Amino acid sequence: MIDTHAHLQDEKMLPCDVVIENANKAGVNKIICSSSDIETSKKAVLIANNYECVYATVGVHPEEANTFNETSLKELEKLAEDKKVVAIGEIGLDYHYEFATRETQKSVFIKQINLANKLGLPIVIHTRDASGDTMEILRANLDKLKNGVCIHCFNMSLEILKEIMGYGFYISIGGIVTFNNAKNVLDIVKACDINRLMLETDSPYISPVPFRGGINEPKNVVYSAKKMAELREMLFEDFDKITTDNAMRFFNIKD
Ligand code: NI
Repeated sequence: MIDTHAHLQDEKMLPCDVVIENANKAGVNKIICSSSDIETSKKAVLIANNYECVYATVGVHPEEANTFNETSLKELEKLAEDKKVVAIGEIGLDYHYEFATRETQKSVFIKQINLANKLGLPIVIHTRDASGDTMEILRANLDKLKNGVCIHCFNMSLEILKEIMGYGFYISIGGIVTFNNAKNVLDIVKACDINRLMLETDSPYISPVPFRGGINEPKNVVYSAKKMAELREMLFEDFDKITTDNAMRFFNIKD
């Protein structure tokens, strides 16, 4: 099983040794460490080089869009030369907090789409309260998205789900699927193309039930996976195999 989205470098996380041992014991044998800015991108690459089972994405999150400057693209490009870097992310739009203006967020998002295209890497998208503009940018850049797109913690409409499945995009879903009030996410899990679905935790955030409110860890991906297998009326083993294969394919991981 693969946790495709965890912030192992986050200060709230337990030490990596512990977190990775816990994950491996729970059957989670690969973790994609996600980044939010240049600092966390550097840390993600370091961790990925220290642990065979960890891979990294590098990128500037929309909440950090104001930190993006002239040198950011060069730094990301340099970091992406590392063979453990498997995607550019997380990038996108967040109009919930709007820490940076919408114009800044859009510009930083598009610059990183271009970078990923240049480097031949897929992108991992964060989008919150910004469906309209996110989709507008993706539709306008489809020719630059051939290396793959994953919308993480996907919670947009079923209509958009249908559209992006048509583009061959992937989604990843985490702990929210275990919450009682998650009707939209339950519908998404049932309606999505099973070959485009990946598992994530977004650790240290969004702990699944029964750990809701606690600090999340990659090992907990098993709880959302069980819930999703149930929703799809699939054997857990089959669901695990398909979603693992999806992640290997999306991130172009060979072994
Ligand atoms: Ni994240």
